Amino acid sequence: MCGIIGVTGEADALPVILGALHQLEYRGYDSAGVALVVDGEIWRARAADGTHSVADLAVLTQDAPTGHAAAIGHTRWATHGHPTPENAHPHLDCTGRLALIHNGIIENHAALRADLLADGHIMTSATDTEVMAHLIERHLARGLTLTEATRAALHAVRGAFSIAVVHADEPDTIVAARRSTPLVLGLEDGAAFLASDIPALLSHTRHLYALADDEVAVLTPGNIAVTTLDGDPVTPQQLTVDWDLEAAQKDGYDDFMSKEMHEQPAAVANTLLDRRGPSGELVLDEMRLGPEELRGIDKVFIVACGSSYHSALVAKYAIEQWVKLPTEVDIASEFRYRDPVLTERTLCVGVSQSGETLDTSEAMREASRLGAKVLVVSNVVDSSMARAADGVLYTRAGPEIGVASTKCHLAQIVALQILGLTLAQIHGTLTPAEITAVLDAMDALPGLLTVALSRAADVDEVASKLTDARDFFFLGRHVGFPMALEGALKLKELAYLRAEGYAAGELKHGPIALIEPGTIVVGIATRNRLSEKLLSNIAEVHSRGATVVLVADDGDDEVGALGDHVLWVPPTDPLLSPVVGVIPLQQLAYRLATLHGHDVDRPRNLAKTVTVE
Ligand code: F6R
Repeated sequence: MCGIIGVTGEADALPVILGALHQLEYRGYDSAGVALVVDGEIWRARAADGTHSVADLAVLTQDAPTGHAAAIGHTRWATHGHPTPENAHPHLDCTGRLALIHNGIIENHAALRADLLADGHIMTSATDTEVMAHLIERHLARGLTLTEATRAALHAVRGAFSIAVVHADEPDTIVAARRSTPLVLGLEDGAAFLASDIPALLSHTRHLYALADDEVAVLTPGNIAVTTLDGDPVTPQQLTVDWDLEAAQKDGYDDFMSKEMHEQPAAVANTLLDRRGPSGELVLDEMRLGPEELRGIDKVFIVACGSSYHSALVAKYAIEQWVKLPTEVDIASEFRYRDPVLTERTLCVGVSQSGETLDTSEAMREASRLGAKVLVVSNVVDSSMARAADGVLYTRAGPEIGVASTKCHLAQIVALQILGLTLAQIHGTLTPAEITAVLDAMDALPGLLTVALSRAADVDEVASKLTDARDFFFLGRHVGFPMALEGALKLKELAYLRAEGYAAGELKHGPIALIEPGTIVVGIATRNRLSEKLLSNIAEVHSRGATVVLVADDGDDEVGALGDHVLWVPPTDPLLSPVVGVIPLQQLAYRLATLHGHDVDRPRNLAKTVTVE
């Protein structure tokens, strides 16, 4: 998500920091900042709002003092707090002598903030990050060194982080640490470096080391010492990197799509972070719509385009089952030109990765005009749609560069299901124990996704047998239906193959006429309340000569026996199954596209953000 860079031992550190931030720009960001330790002081500059680029930061730092000890820099992808200068990193403590940058999400930031405020600390931002600067300050005041104070502070922190801290009293030192988000260290000629991503360091050094979870690194000129959070020394793992810059930006993957598919466990985990209150109840305090407003809701409308529309369709099943509220889902470009019946008791949810899609933003405008409460699910903080809505729920997938949505689609499903559970809590339609059971199942999703992703070779093998196929049907029932639509869309946009997604019960009402030997039917046979009926539909197409590929739950041998090929996925709660089951569908489309020689990151005729009608 955010980009991090730090260097010590370079007297002219500013160009190093700006150059590295420039190398990190490809990841997307909404503000940028730098802190230099110069002459026993911290000098800081931050660029946000309109002029937020690294180039803007370079202008802001033109008159920066020279003769730097340590220096840190940051590109921010906002999660907590708007992309304003106040929320941009680095953050300072109350003394202004400590500066800190952070990538990740601090789950217990609200409790830590309340505690620090009660202790007299003054916060100047709305970020979760700033609490860490003040926590370290608190331990420094007890006489600890910067390293000891950082370790002590991190013991109190829950969540995901990689941080780098500098202090005017220890001018040559950078203390860094990580949990669940990446941090790379580098050494060269009397200097030491750290960064969130390898590309930021490649032009300075190839002597790279990986920091592991709950390790703390102390960087001084030409030296790096790593310990555990408890202070026990460890030897960091050396990295062999023979990538060029472009490959490094893709983290060694062949393309951004592969990289982003592999980021899906983290995208889902981050979207789930920080949603449970102290007694296990769901708290969506960033959402802006309070319990009173949501209690009065008597109907839900979800409006979106493309893959976001498929996420919305999954949510319909969950909200109707959990909350018993009528839930309509519509394609944004249709919604705004008909006469949708909305009242002030309707919750209209716009789902958009970019938050800029014209069809969806205009649909939200129409919903507002008709008096509905408008909530936006977006991956981009302060996107146009997020700003215009009554409430907003952010997916935290990080920037998605590949044109075909992967990690954002999964994060949207999870965010919408969190919304469904929150409505169920407020409307009293699920017990706290039932909500906890679903949340526990959701917490297991990142692990299941890692397993599903590890089976890419099985999908490749099936794909290699389908290279001559031109016609695909994707069939599903219940939540398998939106999965079928998503599988077909991915195949169309990436492999340029004709692919139809159908609710399998519709087959006999027309499309079955198209089934003949050579047709490929992909059946979504993961368990849900209609999966047995799906199997009858599969038997029908099989008997007409179709080649059947099934997506099935591990161990479901009865289903496995019905397919010519089976793509196995780890089972989960049926309503959550689209999160895991879509993985082999993405992989199938990806592999068929590459086998046909297509560019998966930039499919023809498509744009990442569609701001035209
Ligand atoms: C498909 C895809 C598109 C988008 C659609 C909506 O892989 O990426 O179908 O889902 O254009 O975009 P957002 O979510 O930005 O509104």
